[in-house]
Amino acid sequence: MKKIAVLASGRGSNFQAILDSLAAGKINGECVALLTDNKNSYSIERAKNVGIPSIVHNFKDYPDKASFEADLLESMKKTGADLFVCAGYMRIIGPEIARTFAGKMLNIHPALLPAFPGLHAQKQALDYGVKIAGCTVHFVDEGLDSGPIIIQKAVPVFDDDDEDAIDARILEQEHIAYSEAIALFCDDRLVIEGRKVRVLPKV
Ligand code: GRF
Repeated sequence: MKKIAVLASGRGSNFQAILDSLAAGKINGECVALLTDNKNSYSIERAKNVGIPSIVHNFKDYPDKASFEADLLESMKKTGADLFVCAGYMRIIGPEIARTFAGKMLNIHPALLPAFPGLHAQKQALDYGVKIAGCTVHFVDEGLDSGPIIIQKAVPVFDDDDEDAIDARILEQEHIAYSEAIALFCDDRLVIEGRKVRVLPKV
């Protein structure tokens, strides 16, 4: 059974969806730790509720990103996790961490990549006037939201959508997509071939 560590920064609804999928037996893994860069993240409460240890490296207490990332890297190694899952983790992963855990680290982004990387992806999509929006689960590489894509889910954009409406429609799909991608990883069904991820058939 794969050991999973989750990185989260804020309310942690994706983290909760992953915990729920684990509890329901939809993912063949166990969550061994929550790592957060924000001592006020609600994900800490969610971890506590199910007895998972939280490792807090409060970004604001660090003099610079390099010292923060050095501590984070050490803590990530100590978890002994097979998979690291960025679930609403709001910092760009530095190159050393990305290299150390290449092929073992996932991210979710609230847009159909490669469209609208970076912050406020839902607003970017709305402002651009797209008719289809969505989310992407991908492996983390050294770029910004640029790693090989595992799963994408699309949602319609309606004329009267505001940011809250499109956020909520995409978030619902994020919760489904992330658990599906993590389940595939835990069943050793993902093979990275250059930019592409091949999903092996179920055995
Ligand atoms: C999600 O939309 C995620 O894709 C983005 O930030 C949001 C975090 O939501 N990176 P939550 O903390 O998982 O509720």
